[in-house]
Parts: sequence; C-alpha cells; structure tokens
Amino acid sequence: MADVAIVDWKHPFTQNRVPNMPNPLIERTKDEFLRIFGGKPEVAVMAPGRVNLIGEHTDYNEGFVLPAAVDRGTALAGEARDDRKVVLYSADYRQQAEFSLDSLFPDPARRWADYVKGVADQLQRGGFHLKGFRAVLKGDLPRGAGLSSSASLEVAAAVFFQKTSGLSIPDLELVKAAQAAENAFVGVQCGIMDPFASHLGKAGRALFLDCRSLEHQWAPVPPGWTLAVCDSGVERTLAGSAYNERRRQCEEGVRALAVGIPHAKSLRDISLCDIEKHGNLLGPVVLRRCRHVVSENQRVLDMVEALKDGRLERVKVLMEESHESLRDDYGVSCPELDLLVELARNQPGLSGSRMTGAGFGGCTLHLVKDGAWEAFKAVMQEGYEKKTGIKPGVYAFRAADGAKILNGG
Ligand code: GLA
Repeated sequence: MADVAIVDWKHPFTQNRVPNMPNPLIERTKDEFLRIFGGKPEVAVMAPGRVNLIGEHTDYNEGFVLPAAVDRGTALAGEARDDRKVVLYSADYRQQAEFSLDSLFPDPARRWADYVKGVADQLQRGGFHLKGFRAVLKGDLPRGAGLSSSASLEVAAAVFFQKTSGLSIPDLELVKAAQAAENAFVGVQCGIMDPFASHLGKAGRALFLDCRSLEHQWAPVPPGWTLAVCDSGVERTLAGSAYNERRRQCEEGVRALAVGIPHAKSLRDISLCDIEKHGNLLGPVVLRRCRHVVSENQRVLDMVEALKDGRLERVKVLMEESHESLRDDYGVSCPELDLLVELARNQPGLSGSRMTGAGFGGCTLHLVKDGAWEAFKAVMQEGYEKKTGIKPGVYAFRAADGAKILNGG
C-alpha cells in the first residue's frame, strides 16, 4: 500500500465532551494515600485505558490504528522524595514495593511494580534525571481484558515521574518510553498504539494514528453513542507468546514477499493486489496473517472516512469485516468473543461489533446508541451467561482525554 496522506479535516469536529467532574478513581487514590502515608498527596495523575475501534495488529506492522482513550484507567497520587528511593503502595494488590532508582530489577512477587520500574529504566536511559517518590497506585480497568491496563499504568508512571522530578518530557519520548518498558521489562513485543492513545487521546474523538510516521489526527466518535465493551472473562494467558508469534509471522511474510516486491520493508508497503500476485511466495498460514494486516489497514482508512461523513452503516460493515478477518485470517479470536459478536449482531441501536485488543480472550467492542444501551446490556449479560455459564462484565465507556496531571490537594 502506498503511503496515504493523513486526512485534512475541513469541518469542525462534532463536540462530544463531558464536563470536567471530580474523577472518582483519583479521589479514591488520594484518600488511600492519606490512609497509608498520612497527609495529602502533592500530585495526582491519571492515565486512561483504550479501546481500539479498528486497526488490530497493524501497529507493529507500521500500519494505521484508530483507538480511543476511555474514561477508566490507572491513577497515582503521592509526592517527590529528596533521594532516589521509590515507595509504592498498590491499593488493588494491597502490597507495598520499595526500590532504588539506581538498581532496577523485575520482581516476580510484585509484577505490578515492574511496569513502573521499566518506565524509570527507560526514562533514565533517555538521559532524564529522576527523583524518588512515595505514592499510591490504583486502577479501575478490568485487568488482562485487552483494555490496556498495562499501558495506562506505564503512562501514568511516566507522567508522574515527569511532574515529581520537575522534567519536561516531549510527548513522543514519553510514549516510546512506555512502550519500551513493556517490551524490555514485561517481554511483550507490543506496538505503540496503547501508550499513544493513553497519553494523547481526546474526549469525544478516536485517534487516527499512522504508526510509521507517527502523524496523527482525531476522528469524531459519533455523539450519542456508547462505546460498549463486553469482557468475555477468558483470561489472555497465552497472549504474550502467541502475540510475539504473530509478530514473527508478519516479519517472515515481509521477508518472503520482498523477493517479488523489493521495496517492501513492512506489510505497510504491501497491497491486496500484491498479496494476490505474490501469495505463492508464502506458506498458507503466513499468507493469511499478511492478508489480515493488509486488509485491516485499508479498513482503518475507510472507517475514518465513514466516521467523518457519519455513514454508520459503513462503520458497521467495516467492524464486522475486521472481526471476521481477525477470526479467520489472523487466528486471534476465540469462541467466546465470536459468541459476543453474534449475540450483539441484531440488537437495535447497534452500529458495529468486533473483538478489540490483542485477542485470545479479553473483550469485544460494540457501538451502541445511548438510548439502546440498557436493553443491549441486559441481552448481552443474559445471552452470554446462558450459553457459557460466565457472567460477562459489560461496560459503557466514552472516548476520553489522555493522561492528566492534577495537584493532589
Ligand atoms: C496489544 C498491543 C498493541 C496492539 C494490539 C493489537 O494491545 O499492546 O500494541 O498490537 O495488541 O492491535
């Protein structure tokens, strides 16, 4: 696929902002700081999770993505120390971790703190001088459900360091440090989409990101629509290794296709016609993996246009096609995610359904008209529980702003 210019929005964005209200997660995190450490925190930070509207498994192939930050995430409340020690209390795990910024090692007994250590390590490698701090950490995203609870923790940690150490970290450097922390400390070779959305999301918008150039724009999420998320309850235990395997298969596909298409440096440089013409260079599995990525890139571009023009029927078709491609070509769906998409299919007020995130379990995303939300929720809960015996988490999200800093107070 040739490089595509980022859309030049000629019309004003549709406003879909919710008024600034006290955030219950931040308030609870500040209260917890008072309880654990005594005194009021000087700084509070919150970084959101994300749902991806479309563009799955394209980020690490230098493709396009369209995620939205959501109104839940991870908060940190605390204060700087004068030395290099970090004292961190997780209100969710009810555990405390203490470490020095001069000696950062993963700790299998406190995995949650590794994300913060990983971020510190990356920022220090980038030449930033960090101060220690004491803080409370708390999240309100379902964990391991594909809503980027880890990226939200990494971005929250980076923004918290920035504030408490008195630094000015350029946005892109901060986002890259969060991604690198996950790659190096957690071992998942994830792309840049999640920390990008968590840091730079905007209320009422989805982030249209070109993962090659990192140019980005915001596309309107239709006002009056809920981003409904259903958690299958299937734990993504294999996600790490299967995710890295998909990534390797894509790289293998590019290497093989480059024999016939010498300019191909990544799947971003390949079109569907190329796949048809040179597919014989690929084994059957790698062919399907490549076809997903190439077709998904086109769907992101089509989706941005459809959202811009308010063509919701087209949005629905694109989301359905994306799910089918992830299921049949990329092999990252599972029966439970397929069931959730199937249950939603004919619900009134629905404008599209698909699995969201890495897959192998986790969540589905459904665009649902606000007025239809309550009925939609009831049908999904009842239908899913009847067939699987699992009560699904069903959440209503709004597209929200990226990471925020507040004074503790
Ligand atoms: C995970 C990764 C992202 C992205 C998605 C799949 O969420 O963290 O970088 O690759 O999977 O689209």
